[in-house]
Amino acid sequence: MKIAIIGAGNMGGAIAIGIVKSKLVQACDIVVSNPSTEKLDALKNLYPNIQITTNNAVAASSADVVFLAVKPWKAEDVITEIKPSLDYSKQVIVSVIGGISCEQLDRLLLSDSGSLPQLYLIIPNTAITTGCGVTFISGKRTADVIKNNLLALFSTMGKAMYIDEALMPAATSLASCGIAYALQYIKVATEGGVQLGFSHEESLSVVMQTIQGALEVLRASGANPTDEIARVTTPGGLTLRGLQAMEESGFEQAVINGLCASTIIKN
Ligand SMILES: NC(=O)c1ccc[n+]([C@@H]2O[C@H](COP(=O)([O-])OP(=O)(O)OC[C@H]3O[C@@H](n4cnc5c(N)ncnc54)[C@H](OP(=O)(O)O)[C@@H]3O)[C@@H](O)[C@H]2O)c1
Repeated sequence: MKIAIIGAGNMGGAIAIGIVKSKLVQACDIVVSNPSTEKLDALKNLYPNIQITTNNAVAASSADVVFLAVKPWKAEDVITEIKPSLDYSKQVIVSVIGGISCEQLDRLLLSDSGSLPQLYLIIPNTAITTGCGVTFISGKRTADVIKNNLLALFSTMGKAMYIDEALMPAATSLASCGIAYALQYIKVATEGGVQLGFSHEESLSVVMQTIQGALEVLRASGANPTDEIARVTTPGGLTLRGLQAMEESGFEQAVINGLCASTIIKN
């Protein structure tokens, strides 16, 4: 399987690295295209067999699967540029572009002869480079073989799930934006540790280990967070006082408001 990745930014680069690490596709069968060369050169330095180019149409024409990994406002230009070199009877389009639906992509991808490709939407988060990512896959005119290949590929980079397109905005909020929200908790808790007397370095490492511990406890027990919170919350004790103070400051609503605010729905 030959893969083209259009856009070598955070996502395009992470996908290229993830695919090479998966060993399901050889580096020489991946071509990455980007207008500026700095990120392409960095990828080439990392994996010398990866092909790089500044010509999107050349990259797309030779691939079985074409990943679109550009910012949403670049989608129209990029699709217009590569469309004449695509053959929808043989090639599959995978869009990583956040917030652009299959229906919107179809409007851009429709060929002069009225044909449309197999189309997949993929929302990974940045942790795919560490093997701990979350990737949601959805699509239109899909084929089981490609769907399963994409699931297998992204499962090598963490958790991968096929979902209905209607859930994609929620998926983006929960896992892609969600990484920033989890990091925001770590940042704020670290600042709290500094206020309580730890150095920044000590506080960050304690908070990270505490988060790691919370995850391991949940995994080991198979329980839900409510049960595990109850295990450390003695009636009248310190944890209860802390949780109540957080709740009085609107912790729960702040998290839910943040998730809802980043759930974009466009048609
Ligand atoms: N970051 C995330 O966590 C995340 C998660 C899920 C989905 N996404 C989606 O992934 C997409 C890319 O996001 P990103 O974070 O990777 O952005 P990014 O780091 O800014 O990368 C975008 C890349 O596209 C390149 N580019 C610009 N114009 C192009 C063109 N005409 N042809 C080919 N490449 C072009 C840019 O190159 P130059 O820098 O040289 O201009 C840049 O390297 C977005 O649509 C975003 O919504 C991101």
